[in-house]
Amino acid sequence: MKKCLKDVNMKNKTVIIRCDFNVPLKKGKIIDNTRIEKSLETIKYCIKEKAKVILLSHLGRVKTEEDKKEKSLKPVSKELEKLLKQKITFIEETRGEKVEKKVSSLKPGEVLLLENTRFEDIEGKKESGNDEELGAYWAHLADIFINDAFGTAHRAHASNVGIASHIKTSCIGFLIEKELSALEELNCPNKPFIVILGGSKVGDKIGVIENIVAKADKILIGGGMAFTFLKAEGYEIGNSICDNEHLSFCEKITKKYPEKIILPVDFKVTSEFSDETPVTEKGIDELDFDDIGLDIGTSTIEIFKNHLKDAKLVLWNGPLGVYELENFKLGTNEVLNNLAEKNIKTILGGGDIVAAAKNAKVEDKIYHISTGGGATLEYLEGKSLPGIEAIK
Ligand code: 3PG
Repeated sequence: MKKCLKDVNMKNKTVIIRCDFNVPLKKGKIIDNTRIEKSLETIKYCIKEKAKVILLSHLGRVKTEEDKKEKSLKPVSKELEKLLKQKITFIEETRGEKVEKKVSSLKPGEVLLLENTRFEDIEGKKESGNDEELGAYWAHLADIFINDAFGTAHRAHASNVGIASHIKTSCIGFLIEKELSALEELNCPNKPFIVILGGSKVGDKIGVIENIVAKADKILIGGGMAFTFLKAEGYEIGNSICDNEHLSFCEKITKKYPEKIILPVDFKVTSEFSDETPVTEKGIDELDFDDIGLDIGTSTIEIFKNHLKDAKLVLWNGPLGVYELENFKLGTNEVLNNLAEKNIKTILGGGDIVAAAKNAKVEDKIYHISTGGGATLEYLEGKSLPGIEAIK
């Protein structure tokens, strides 16, 4: 067990919380604030406990001076002020005199947000390279380190592993605690345990499939990745997406687990990646050379629902079709709605399926929605997460 927030006395102490505020922005506006909302519980707790709070996060990847303009955490500080209903001091720097002065004048319950930790990457990848001096610098600003950035837990950076290794007291926040307790259920899942995998690339999911196939009762495969499996079985897939590099993996795994890997039997097809071209539904042996499959078909939806009907636990990563396009969101939405209506215990991991659940307005009925993309995948691959390992 990792040390948790409630194990720590933080009254009048300075705490530094590593959050993951890596949210999508469009023209400087936050278009999905889920990660900020999910960080609030820890921040509010620290405020209530009368800690002096410093917040750190990265936003995007910062390689040039030019990147800095679009990757400032300023919009995040505004959003935090709105959600917390309290003033947040935002300093457009990651270190230096201004930061130190503000830290030493912080009063219990006050919150300070520093600029994007990856601004430190411009000269020598100090944040991403876990620069010793940078980790020690941030650690010296505070008494206690709280890591609550689950989305970044697969990275060994100065703002997570670096700080943790230079500070006496460190713990995980509520967000990471919840993520771990939900994901730990997958180690010894209640049966039937059904995994749904979608998204475009098989390559991204090989580690997950290999690690989970023995525990899963069925793996339902949809999305673009289904076509690589079907091509490996000799079907004509037309112009549908195919991960040619991984055909032999697909062939091998379906031969080894023929009763577990469930592939679509029909698709919604069109001629271009667009909502403008006519859509037809075709069985898997009816696809023409110029067809593009962009969603699972109605028979597949029924087959998937049937496999899910007695499920005790479902893990889902990646949408079953191009849910962003009106004509191709039905498969993902129908299966999401079915899980929500039947109250089937479901864990969603990965940005796209989480966004699809929000679009379908079912997120409140889902047991656990993970804030991690890469971190969740690495956890599901059975890898250890350095950001969490670093907490004693
Ligand atoms: C994510 O969005 O997966 C995390 O914030 C980590 O971001 P990164 O892939 O840029 O390290």
